[in-house]
Amino acid sequence: MPAPAIEFRGVAKTFHHRFSEIEVAALANVSFEASQGEVCAFLGPNGAGKTTSINLLMGFLFPDSGEIRVLGYRPGDPRAKRRIGFVPENFAFYRYLTAPELLRMHLALAGCRENGASRIPELLARLKLNGYESLKIGKYSRGMVQRLGIAQALLADPELLVLDEPTSGLDPAGRKEVLALLAGLKAAAKTVFLSSHILPEVEQICDRVVILDRGRLVRAGRLDEMLAGVGRVEIEVDQLPEEIEAAWAARGVAAERAAAGIRLTAPDALKRELAESLWSAGCDVIRVNPVKSTLQDLFLKLVEDYEGAQ
Ligand SMILES: Nc1ncnc2c1ncn2[C@@H]1O[C@H](COP(=O)(O)OP(=O)(O)O)[C@@H](O)[C@H]1O
Ligand SMILES: [Mg+2]
Repeated sequence: MPAPAIEFRGVAKTFHHRFSEIEVAALANVSFEASQGEVCAFLGPNGAGKTTSINLLMGFLFPDSGEIRVLGYRPGDPRAKRRIGFVPENFAFYRYLTAPELLRMHLALAGCRENGASRIPELLARLKLNGYESLKIGKYSRGMVQRLGIAQALLADPELLVLDEPTSGLDPAGRKEVLALLAGLKAAAKTVFLSSHILPEVEQICDRVVILDRGRLVRAGRLDEMLAGVGRVEIEVDQLPEEIEAAWAARGVAAERAAAGIRLTAPDALKRELAESLWSAGCDVIRVNPVKSTLQDLFLKLVEDYEGAQ
């Protein structure tokens, strides 16, 4: 098995605010992995510690404790950096450059001026920035700047892309375009690590999710496995004896009465047992509908449970 693309082991980082006694534990004992070739979504409410983690991963900050590996190296190792494309959360480009000028400058900084220049027109076209080659970046819309950030990250054809909130500040059409682009990278077997708090979007493209809240890991794992664990089922019956209702209510099964019948909502794991108990109590089971859980449902539940336990 190839080494994980990203590994965090017991990572902690506390910020000490100058001029005040305040300390912020931005990360505490965070461990997770992301595999090569996967799209991994790094999720959490504002202030959860996503940007701090990404800054540690990129080698811009150092952890107080714990270990981080990226493509098998320590953060900041040039052998890893050469293979990573990065789009920071808030980036600002030189307003008075054009996109081709900016990309040429980044190529020079990356030390691959000669063999990369031919990629610029292709990249601009891929990010729908062709036709604006002579426009100064200061005149770009927010969406164009975001796409230019991604073009910059793709310049050296990296195998790992790290994107901090790549769709923030974009309109729905712009977000859709960025997501389609990320899906294309996934199809090209690149590893993508992106932070976001727009869950329905990342759900469409991610293989793995890592959820942080208040600097702690809430859950990490494959999305399909996580969603399978929270699936629910709706069972409709013509009638529901009181003792059956009470017994199942104690196990978290909710009953809702409507004109057409009674609808029970239960965790997927209880489906068979519940349906059998209803049949044997003489109820007519009219319908059994699986209810697909979304990443948003899962996220809200996990964060709510996690915060409730604090
Ligand atoms: N340079 C810093 N100095 C002090 N506190 C910081 C610094 N960077 C982040 N923090 C604090 O760390 C916490 C996590 O922030 P951040 O990693 O930016 O979260 P997210 O990206 O998930 O919104 C926040 O409480 C934030 O205020
Ligand atoms: Mg952030």
